[in-house]
Amino acid sequence: MKALVLAGGTGSRLRPITHTSAKQLVPVANKPVLFYVLESIAEAGITEVGIVLGDTAEEIRTAVERGGFGDLDITYIPQSAPLGLAHAVRIAKDFLGDDDFVMYLGDNFIIGGITDLVDEFRVRRPDAQILLTRVPDPTAFGVAELDETGNVVGLEEKPEKPKSDLALVGVYLFTPAVHEAVRAITPSWRGELEITDAIQWLIDRHRDVRSTTISGYWKDTGNVVDMLEVNRTVLESIEPLVAGEVDEATEIVGRVRIDKGAVVRRSRIVGPVIIGPDAEVTGSYVGPFTSISEECRIEDSEIEFSIVLPGSSITGVRRVEASLIGRNVEVTPAPRAPAAHRLILGDHSKVQISS
Ligand code: DAU
Repeated sequence: MKALVLAGGTGSRLRPITHTSAKQLVPVANKPVLFYVLESIAEAGITEVGIVLGDTAEEIRTAVERGGFGDLDITYIPQSAPLGLAHAVRIAKDFLGDDDFVMYLGDNFIIGGITDLVDEFRVRRPDAQILLTRVPDPTAFGVAELDETGNVVGLEEKPEKPKSDLALVGVYLFTPAVHEAVRAITPSWRGELEITDAIQWLIDRHRDVRSTTISGYWKDTGNVVDMLEVNRTVLESIEPLVAGEVDEATEIVGRVRIDKGAVVRRSRIVGPVIIGPDAEVTGSYVGPFTSISEECRIEDSEIEFSIVLPGSSITGVRRVEASLIGRNVEVTPAPRAPAAHRLILGDHSKVQISS
């Protein structure tokens, strides 16, 4: 059994972060989302992994190579443009050969991994096995319609009028039967070769398509709200650890991880919080569900329920919350007079100002 990880695409809902960086590398508890995907594949006992790459190929390759996945045999598969999930399967045919495989979308996050699912698939080997979960707004997903006995009778990609609230989770298991299906379909209204259409093609030909409805935790980390939510959930179970330096004037409450090289002075840190290697926190409050990445500087500020990417600084600002701050960003107060906001924002930035 092989794994096919999809890490191409555009990441438009995470702009401006994704103007300069791959969405699959945005960190959750200071670790890229893609790394959780690769770890759960390794845990399921799969070692041959193909990663489909788009414009951000170099960045992803470098991150994965430095990420310590030496036990995985990784093949990188370039995709010329994000032409759809089924297109990714088409171009991965040489890598996949005639093996069964799990396809895992590189921006999806499932707590609890995929081991049970993969084990069950290995025993039964239906042509396709999909994962479903109930969501409040199915229009943003692939949506499944089941009959009264629970069989999948129809699938639709991002329907205006969903026939159920069962969304397709970004993990699919296939036998080689899917190759004929991805070759047979044509692009959808949004110009993509949809994997939902390929699975529908199998259903229409009475092939064995099964579904498992999961009630556990799943998120597509494609937008900021979901990113912060996943970060919150993962931080809830981090192991507390102080490997950095913390002075006596600092108060630490709850689950807090302070990595090597980090320095915390005269601050109040209320977990769950993670402070990455070589970060500096001085005279500040860092509140629950916050991930501060490596080499960030938080000074005389208050921040909570946020993610700050490497190399950024927040100085003299209270209070920052529910924010995703990119790499090497500087947040500072404006001079006292005139009382004006001074902004240098990248394309597609979003700012909410409280005054
Ligand atoms: O997250 C679950 C949803 O994922 C499903 O409910 C939908 O049925 C499925 O189509 C997909 O929808 P998204 O609109 O969220 O897919 P997105 O374009 O974000 O792509 C998912 C991942 O696959 C992402 O890591 C980028 C990568 N990708 C995407 C395309 C279109 C590629 O590598 N190549 C591509 O051509």
